[in-house]
Amino acid sequence: MHRLASVSLMLAGLVGLAGVVATWQPAAADAGKKPDQKSVERTRKTVKMLDEVYKRSIVLITDKYVHDEDDFPAGSAAVELFRQITEGGTHSVRLIDVTGEPYDDENVAKDAFEKAGVKKIKAGEAYHDEVVMEDGQYRLRAITAVPVVMEKCVMCHAHYADAAKGEAIGAITYSIPIE
Ligand code: HEC
Repeated sequence: MHRLASVSLMLAGLVGLAGVVATWQPAAADAGKKPDQKSVERTRKTVKMLDEVYKRSIVLITDKYVHDEDDFPAGSAAVELFRQITEGGTHSVRLIDVTGEPYDDENVAKDAFEKAGVKKIKAGEAYHDEVVMEDGQYRLRAITAVPVVMEKCVMCHAHYADAAKGEAIGAITYSIPIE
């Protein structure tokens, strides 16, 4: 009888422990809860702000400093700037080609988001984003169109001359944590 009592006590203890585990789990799942609409909207606004800063800077540099093919191209400056920004860790950003003829083979869509995004940009969308879970963190992945904004671009990218007015020849892609 005594033995039976201790077994049932043990069982009760196990059930109790299971209860603790069960109540603890939802709390842990809660920590990785999908971000609410407000946080997503705020992050989207940050991406659009960054996008404007980057694009205006690239165009300004091309306008004022790039005079012939031997000058340091704003495209190269952007690629290097984006590499350093990405290394800094606040967000990742890349300048890529959507024409199929990149200057540098590195500057093309790499993962599934970028590949699907390039299709959307080529179909005429100026902006596309998605909420994704990467490395245990919710992030906003975004892609924005880069059209041929000035004649000078054609100086080095001859095939841009074939692009219709306003047609995207490139894209900037972002990955930024949603906080
Ligand atoms: C002086 C020559 C030159 C001019 C002018 C120039 N680019 Fe580039 N561009 C380059 C080079 C070189 C690269 C490759 C940079 C790298 O990977 O380091 C590049 C890269 C790019 C890329 C990334 C995809 C790829 O082809 O590798 C895009 C998009 C781009 N340029 C758009 C533009 C736009 C838009 C303009 C006009 C505002 C422009 N470029 C003007 C030389 C130029």
